[in-house]
Amino acid sequence: MTTFQSRVFSGVQPTGNLHLGNYLGAISRFVPLQDQMESIYCVVDLHAITVWQDPAELTRATREVTAAYLAAGIDPKKAIIFNQSQVREHAELAWIFNCVARMGWLKRMTQFKDKAGKHAENASVGLFAYPNLMAADILAYRATHVPVGDDQKQHLELTRDIAQKFNNDFDEQIKELGLGVPNPEPSHESPEEIFFPLTEPMIAGPATRIMSLRDGNKKMSKSDPSDLSRINLTDDADTIAKKIKKAKTDPDALPSEVDGLEGRAEADNLVGIYAALSGKSKADVLSEFGGQQFSAFKPALSELAVEKLAPMNGEMTRLMNDAAAIDTVLKDGAERASAIAEPVLHDVRRIVGFLEARRS
Ligand code: TYM
Repeated sequence: MTTFQSRVFSGVQPTGNLHLGNYLGAISRFVPLQDQMESIYCVVDLHAITVWQDPAELTRATREVTAAYLAAGIDPKKAIIFNQSQVREHAELAWIFNCVARMGWLKRMTQFKDKAGKHAENASVGLFAYPNLMAADILAYRATHVPVGDDQKQHLELTRDIAQKFNNDFDEQIKELGLGVPNPEPSHESPEEIFFPLTEPMIAGPATRIMSLRDGNKKMSKSDPSDLSRINLTDDADTIAKKIKKAKTDPDALPSEVDGLEGRAEADNLVGIYAALSGKSKADVLSEFGGQQFSAFKPALSELAVEKLAPMNGEMTRLMNDAAAIDTVLKDGAERASAIAEPVLHDVRRIVGFLEARRS
């Protein structure tokens, strides 16, 4: 190999309550990429169990994320869709990365601090090591591009750090075994030939961080106890309209320019949602709605959200009634994913020095 093949990898946790943030920040952006590069979209069930999951609900939610991928327009003939636990290489590489990453790196992860809260001692070891598994997801395919929302930025920086440390630590073996690829960004810290690429995060557009509809300073999240805080991908038209009607705003009219959104978190969020759903910029949205009250903007937003999300909701419901068809997609995807990850792990074992004795 003379260069890394361009390859997209991303994942969504099957932890219920898939919402508009997941759709606009991630899933909707996966769709056009399938026509540009080899794309691998994973349902990360191993990540989900870092906090307790009811087993039956985990199975259902795994199918539901798959249904969302398909309903959003990901074509399983073009992209690879599978659930993480069906491809053993993720867990194996994660263990090796547990031994590459440093405690200090993981202790700095803000998402662990947020999720573990005041009771870090009671958090699972898996929750702490979560970012190492994420690095393994990406690097088991030597993926070069990762589309995600803004909240995953720190994890992707860690992925680059892990790749870099592995490339450095095993520099000699990589060269000796002839498994290196010329480093596109060589530096004094980074050898000339590397095994793992330094992955590009793709965090772009008006929807990298969709906020709660009840509090413009909090991220829209699956775990918010208030269902009014988020638009779920399973919400019907009436529910979507009701939630937008009840969304928190301020008393002023919308500004005509983007600068005027500063300090107005809720207004900024709703304009961002409109922009992302319509494929326009915030500036375009404000040139249309600047000077108007929320009483006029909200119905327009509602109509747009229903127009975009209701067909997806219908398709998800249809797909969820055919579990066997979903499982077939996941099985086929897992086979194709394994065909890429297996040879990578074979090389990793040789690089690390694991003895592969032949068993008769
Ligand atoms: P998860 O399941 O929390 O979220 C899935 C995707 O949705 C994005 N997202 C948002 N985007 C905009 N606004 C929001 N309010 C919002 N909330 C969530 C997330 O950034 C993510 O892109 N660790 C990941 C899953 C993962 C992964 C990976 C991603 C596991 N391995 C490898 C990429 C590559 C997560 O918990 O996503």
